[in-house]
Amino acid sequence: NEVSLEGFDHYMLKEIYEQPESIRNAMRGRLDEQDATAVFGGLNLTPQQLRGVERIILTGCGTSWHSALVGEYLIEELARIPVSVEYASELRYRNPPIDNNTLVFGITQSGETADTLAALRETKRKGHRTLAICNVVASSIAQAADGGVYLHAGPEIGVASTKAYTSQCCVLAMLALYFGRMRHLSYEGGKRIIEEMQQLPGAVQQALTCDVQVRDVAQKYKDVSNVLYLGRQYNFPTALEGALKLKEISYIHAEGYPAAEMKHGPIALVDEHTPSVFIIPHGTTYEKVLANMEEVKARGGPVIAIASHEDPQIESIADDVIRIPSVPEILQPIVSVVPLQLLSYHIALLRGCDVDKPRNLAKSVTVE
Ligand code: G6P
Repeated sequence: NEVSLEGFDHYMLKEIYEQPESIRNAMRGRLDEQDATAVFGGLNLTPQQLRGVERIILTGCGTSWHSALVGEYLIEELARIPVSVEYASELRYRNPPIDNNTLVFGITQSGETADTLAALRETKRKGHRTLAICNVVASSIAQAADGGVYLHAGPEIGVASTKAYTSQCCVLAMLALYFGRMRHLSYEGGKRIIEEMQQLPGAVQQALTCDVQVRDVAQKYKDVSNVLYLGRQYNFPTALEGALKLKEISYIHAEGYPAAEMKHGPIALVDEHTPSVFIIPHGTTYEKVLANMEEVKARGGPVIAIASHEDPQIESIADDVIRIPSVPEILQPIVSVVPLQLLSYHIALLRGCDVDKPRNLAKSVTVE
């Protein structure tokens, strides 16, 4: 490959470590401190059209679909615009009613995923406004959409998406800020979010130092056959993404679930051979997730916790704790996914899997 590994053993690891920089690049020139909002050069919609948006559909596949789920929480919370998230492969044939004030975003790293492209083309053909959030400049989707936002994450070579995901979440946070500031979000509120976003590259850098702890955890659990990933609210998509990463590159069966849904099925899987990864940084549902964790422990299931640095009590319940820096809840997905990316990487490596080119998968799926 033309892109150098720069001393890393795999592209995936290199790309995980590039995240402080790729996040910085996603934000470069887009945070307007003066007006406490975000700016985008390529939306190609009039301010009137943007203000008139009453509903947003976010669509994509795989990891990009997970970032869409994060976007749903962000946009609804900051901008109070109803959001629906659709698998592109479903949206393209489902023909849902879409009105004129709906904006459809196709989210895709490659800009070439056949289903996402088809879903966007179909909605555009019906006369709706379509935008792309993609990484590859001048890709098919970038050309097909009315406008969009580039991630500027640089080439992503590893088949399992890492830095593109955190950049997508970052762009979605900025879009939420932007739409929010057109509506109910105050100047002070916008300003605070900008300041918090500016702390992100440093927080991700700090999260990467958990690599040492993650290696030990990987060693301990490398031979399991099933893993549950549980989180709530902003960390529910993180649970899905952590499970997907593990499946993709280590071929271990994993399921991501909203932690509270555990009692409606997944808890039946819990035994001493099935570890549960809880994404449990401080936040509104912390106590509730803690209670779920205790339920898993009571049934003999090993517990791995992704927890805030400032959380002394977690050690008394979890078998293994991986620490991440504290960031506001709305930005947690960008930080809490980092140890999960590393965990899947180290487990895959220990199992002798081809990390950058996992079996049966392709970097971009250009056929239906
Ligand atoms: C493939 C890749 C995934 C990726 C998905 C969507 O399945 O293996 O890593 O998330 O396609 O790709 P896109 O380029 O549209 O984000």
